[in-house]
Amino acid sequence: MSEIIRLESITKKFGKVIAVNNVNLSIENGEIHSIIGENGAGKTTLMRLLYGMYKLDSGSMFLRNESVRFSSPKDAIENKIGMVHQNFMLIDDFTVYENVVLGLEPRKFLSFDRTLAREKVRKLAEEYEMEVDIDWLVGKISVGLQQKVEILKLLYRNSNILIFDEPTAVLTPQESDALFQIFQKFKDSEKTVIFISHKLKEVKKVSDRVSIMRNGNLLKTFINKNLSEEQLAEMIAGRKISKTIPIRTKIGKAILKTENLTILGNKRIPKVKKMSFEVKSGEIVGIAGVVGNGQSELEEAISGMRKISSGKMIFNGKDATRMSVRERRELGMVYIPEDRIRTGLAPLASIRDNLVMGHQNEKFFLGSLEFIKRSSVRAFAEESVKSYEIVCKSIEEQVGTLSGGNMQKVVIAREFSQNVSFLMISQPTRGVDVRGIEFIHKKILDMKKSGGAVLLISADLDEILALSDRILVMYEGQIIYSTSIQDAVSKKIGLAMLGIRS
Ligand SMILES: Nc1ncnc2c1ncn2[C@@H]1O[C@H](COP(=O)(O)OP(=O)(O)OP(=O)(O)O)[C@@H](O)[C@H]1O
Ligand SMILES: [Mg+2]
Repeated sequence: MSEIIRLESITKKFGKVIAVNNVNLSIENGEIHSIIGENGAGKTTLMRLLYGMYKLDSGSMFLRNESVRFSSPKDAIENKIGMVHQNFMLIDDFTVYENVVLGLEPRKFLSFDRTLAREKVRKLAEEYEMEVDIDWLVGKISVGLQQKVEILKLLYRNSNILIFDEPTAVLTPQESDALFQIFQKFKDSEKTVIFISHKLKEVKKVSDRVSIMRNGNLLKTFINKNLSEEQLAEMIAGRKISKTIPIRTKIGKAILKTENLTILGNKRIPKVKKMSFEVKSGEIVGIAGVVGNGQSELEEAISGMRKISSGKMIFNGKDATRMSVRERRELGMVYIPEDRIRTGLAPLASIRDNLVMGHQNEKFFLGSLEFIKRSSVRAFAEESVKSYEIVCKSIEEQVGTLSGGNMQKVVIAREFSQNVSFLMISQPTRGVDVRGIEFIHKKILDMKKSGGAVLLISADLDEILALSDRILVMYEGQIIYSTSIQDAVSKKIGLAMLGIRS
């Protein structure tokens, strides 16, 4: 094999933050090279430098031993480097083939040659065995298919170095496997794949070599087969990581009970249809499903942010169908939504203030004249920072300057600090590194241990399997499959996530 890319002493700063520090990396032609590391380690930044999205502060890049300098992605694309970003950049109102050729449309005289465009895209899809209808509007297809459109875009531009930044975070297990088969095809045709992921099982499965980043530095590049998943996790975190081990607890009475819950979506069409289920004390119920099958509407309705249009919800023995968010909270409900950093934090406020946000009125914090007791707030904040291992300079530091993982801890510390009988948590570890996963999983299991009821909503099937006592698969607003953890067969669940009942 020959070297296709070499990065030498690459550095990139954002203000005072050194995102990428003096990195050397060599990528071989035709390999699948994974890049792993903690949140904020510099993976995305390093790849964006290679893709011309950011300018290097210092260092050099070589492509097939020739020095290159990219001032925009256009330069990278011309050099056959392509990148699939985590947030797709497609146009919903265009068809699949229109999106693929966008900006490089085949022409016949002066006009867009649609026939040729369709033909070219169809051929590419066929060559890589991607089953996608090229005439569908992109806004109407699943996330998994949209990702294929992004890949077709790269192939249409003849990329032979393909960078994927956490491509499987949004996929079902079957879709991820299909993606890995496409990786193999790339390899067969001597294309090079660079793969960023927090899912170490996948990294083990697909990589030839693995590079580990920490704190802006590239620690080392390994041959994949020389390391186990546990060793990879240890390298990332700098210490041993314990696997999530499910615990048995006594399961008690129902804390949450829904009967024929029907909930309308934003377009006034039902997104949840007659859903009935229970979550009991000491139990974790996992809702598996591809994002967009009614989970967010369900969460919002249970938390009180969205109206329940018909059916009933009983919470802690009371009819909560029409209760406000506040009433539900006072009855012991905690909801930690998926995008907790954006909705749950005030980035410019201090860690201390964020930790008490929303509880200022609680007795504990109220002194004479109902003023907030400064010292108790302070003590509470110090204690949270310690017990949740929030890495910061002081509790006065602005939350917005923390790394993603530490911001999440602030939200979790705040929400878990009260009297909780029911926790609803959505995509708890999407994009979270191994240390963060270990931490969040432990907190969820602690909740169960202390008799809380947990509703876990996650598109990550491995996570659902690791934590849940019972699993419900949601598809198009309904539970189409349910199983206890003892009888769970991951293949069946994966199929149900795609709407296939077995
Ligand atoms: N555009 C930016 N402006 C300022 N700081 C940035 C910017 N992009 C990244 N950073 C900072 O650079 C560091 C590296 O971030 P980067 O996004 O590359 O990490 P990552 O390894 O991809 O993390 P994750 O696994 O969470 O995606 C972080 O401290 C981050 O806060
Ligand atoms: Mg990243």
